[in-house]
Amino acid sequence: MKFSQYLDQKGLSEDLASVLVSLTNAVKKISKAFASANHSETGKAGTENVYGEQQLKLDLYADKVLSAAMEENRYVGLVASEEQEVEKSVGDGEFAVCFDPLDGSSLADVNLSVGTIIGVYKRSTFIGAKGDDQVAAMMAVYGPRTTIMVTFRQGVAEFLLNFSLDSSLDFAGEFVLNKENFQIDEGKLFAPGNLKICSERKDYLELVNYWILNGYKLRYSGGMVPDINQIIIKGNGIFTYPGYSKEPDGKLRLLMECAPLALIVEQAGGVASDGKMRILDKQAKVLTQQSQILIGSKGEVERCISYLN
Ligand code: F6P
Repeated sequence: MKFSQYLDQKGLSEDLASVLVSLTNAVKKISKAFASANHSETGKAGTENVYGEQQLKLDLYADKVLSAAMEENRYVGLVASEEQEVEKSVGDGEFAVCFDPLDGSSLADVNLSVGTIIGVYKRSTFIGAKGDDQVAAMMAVYGPRTTIMVTFRQGVAEFLLNFSLDSSLDFAGEFVLNKENFQIDEGKLFAPGNLKICSERKDYLELVNYWILNGYKLRYSGGMVPDINQIIIKGNGIFTYPGYSKEPDGKLRLLMECAPLALIVEQAGGVASDGKMRILDKQAKVLTQQSQILIGSKGEVERCISYLN
């Protein structure tokens, strides 16, 4: 079943369905560019984003494609991107869309999977937004296959970009339903981010040691999207990215990374916490707000909270 047919079958409103379809069309273009990018295109653009990170040419391309798709959609009024300093008004539409255009893009040159993360709200500013305000969230995985995981608060469904279907447009292929009704239960798979802080954070070292000594499988790619995608598809596991003295809130962005992924994981029966509170209850005081994140099955998130002081 095609993506648009699925939205129709689920009774999604025409306006939200239109926004989600526009987003998938942008994802198709990014996927195409990613699939044939050479080392020059996966290389540095010579600019930095507001977080002081080097931007890649592909980061800027993905940002441009998503921004343009949202500007063209009459139901969208506001856009914010990890690659832009401020939120931008793009029309009178009711929907506000924020995104990390290419998460984990430093993995692009070595041909590992990277992703796009998207949160959809009905708001006039992102300041003051809580992840729980999201009406939909999506992540795209650009790997050997291009897939999207989407939620509009009716569980989580995965769609696969099928190139053998309609390619009459400048973006090839159609997203077709691959699987729905994902459920995250307990299991022994761990994806521990930011291990470099273990010399300072002995509590984190002890937590990681627990997993190692208890026969857990390490499954860490260096990209949050493929790592979370794995937890959802395998149906168990934990991803962590704690902070430390220099970056108490870690480095992952609340609006553009943590909140959309938290909604997707919660909709699949998992949990996401910053160690003190539910990620989806955190209010963004600034666009650039960052957050620690412990995300995955309920029992593993609880274990993290009990180990991390
Ligand atoms: O910037 C986001 C991100 O690339 C995530 O996708 C990933 O999980 C994390 O950073 C990796 O961080 P580090 O570079 O500290 O290993």
